[in-house]
Amino acid sequence: MNQNEISRIDRITKIIYNLLNGKIPEFIHFEVQEFDEINQLSQYVNRLVEEINSLKQSYADLSNGNLSSPIKSNLPFAHSLKNLQATLNHLTWQTNQISKGDFSQHVDFLGEFSDSFNCMVKQLQINRDHLEELVKNRTKELSLLLNTSIKTSQTLNEKDIFELISKILIQSLECHTYCRIISLDKSKQRFQIKTTHSIRPLECDCPIDVFYELDNFKNLKKTINNPEIKIIDINFEDIDKDEKDFFFLGIFKSLLIMPFIEDYNVSSFAMLNEARDLSRSNFSTDFYKTLSYQLSISINNSKLFQKNKTIFLHTVEALAAAIDARDTYTHYHSKNVTKYAVIIAKGMELKDDQVSNIKIAGLLHDIGKIGIMDNILLKPGKLTTEEFDIIKSHPNKAVKILEAVEDLKDIIPIIAAHHERFDGKGYPNSLIGEEIHIGARIIAIADTLDAMTTKRVYRNAMDKKVAIEEIAKCSGTKFDPQVVKAFLNLAHSL
Ligand SMILES: [Fe+2]
Repeated sequence: MNQNEISRIDRITKIIYNLLNGKIPEFIHFEVQEFDEINQLSQYVNRLVEEINSLKQSYADLSNGNLSSPIKSNLPFAHSLKNLQATLNHLTWQTNQISKGDFSQHVDFLGEFSDSFNCMVKQLQINRDHLEELVKNRTKELSLLLNTSIKTSQTLNEKDIFELISKILIQSLECHTYCRIISLDKSKQRFQIKTTHSIRPLECDCPIDVFYELDNFKNLKKTINNPEIKIIDINFEDIDKDEKDFFFLGIFKSLLIMPFIEDYNVSSFAMLNEARDLSRSNFSTDFYKTLSYQLSISINNSKLFQKNKTIFLHTVEALAAAIDARDTYTHYHSKNVTKYAVIIAKGMELKDDQVSNIKIAGLLHDIGKIGIMDNILLKPGKLTTEEFDIIKSHPNKAVKILEAVEDLKDIIPIIAAHHERFDGKGYPNSLIGEEIHIGARIIAIADTLDAMTTKRVYRNAMDKKVAIEEIAKCSGTKFDPQVVKAFLNLAHSL
């Protein structure tokens, strides 16, 4: 072996030594022409270095997260690397699917990693389902609170609001079977059931408006002293038999007591019975609390509205009394006209708000007479044409007085037309038939009946029976035949 050959073998040996020690050259090329063995060895070493470099690059790609670079090495163990690349690619795809909400992904080829991965997917699915359920329930609660707010804001009568609350609690919550609304007496020593509502007919329904002494109901008393949502189930022990029977614990498994607050004190309750456990309810305690506050506001609003309405009515009655007091012969005239007009209006089955307007119009129908001088209004003798024309101005004077009051805008057309006649011969505008407000057509009859049946300075009171006959004779001329018909049907109750 000559020096040249030794040098080449020595170089190949060094390269192989370096390869064994992890020192891989970037590039190597031998060309040996003279010796076949060395030439063959050189080619193998060249190929080995090339393959190792390719494998090294593929490992680097994989460890850098680049999973799409092709693995070019033909070395037998490159196959394992290709499998690893395919596995990681599949895992990436599965993770992507999970991020899109597909929790059906399952790994069963990576040993302990598979267990952790599958466990993580399962937990994610449980968390997602739990969150979805939570969001669904909270959305339902918010929607119910909103709907309750809308519904109760349209009702301003205390009786109606209790009815409505009772229906809402049964129908909207869909988790209670029977609802009673209980109102505390102002003395707080007794209470009465104002309304009951059930999803189906019950044998155990309670009498409405009967008073119960609070002393016999210690759990209700506790709720009054500590106004929180209270749930009592059939196994609750701190309860007397009478209270347990009153709570229907036996017929039902549980009871939820929801207090309503007025001026910082409990003024009423909703008592909700449930045939099954209350755990059936998906509603949170916070929801029941919020609902309780919201319904308390609605109840208070209805009471305030009622109070305002009463004050308004009393003011109108006082004004009516002041109008009547000007003429000793027409004392109680406005009150009487109102009484007759309301009976006729109800007999004609007019709506509640129409009856209410006719009531106010009856009380105020002659308010325009405030603007008529005493020497004309109270003149005992016959009026001259000019004087009567002044008297005839009182409907228009009434309009001028009342038009400044926004809340009376629906009353004005009734008062303005209470001296119109059905045949068009009335005043001040000679309106005909249904041009005249129905309220005015009713008050015209009520006004005439009271005028005829009360004593005047120039004549005695007419017998009511005769007055009724006189009104009947004027059907179709002075008065609306439909109203006269209703009036005659009711004449016995006037
Ligand atoms: Fe009048």
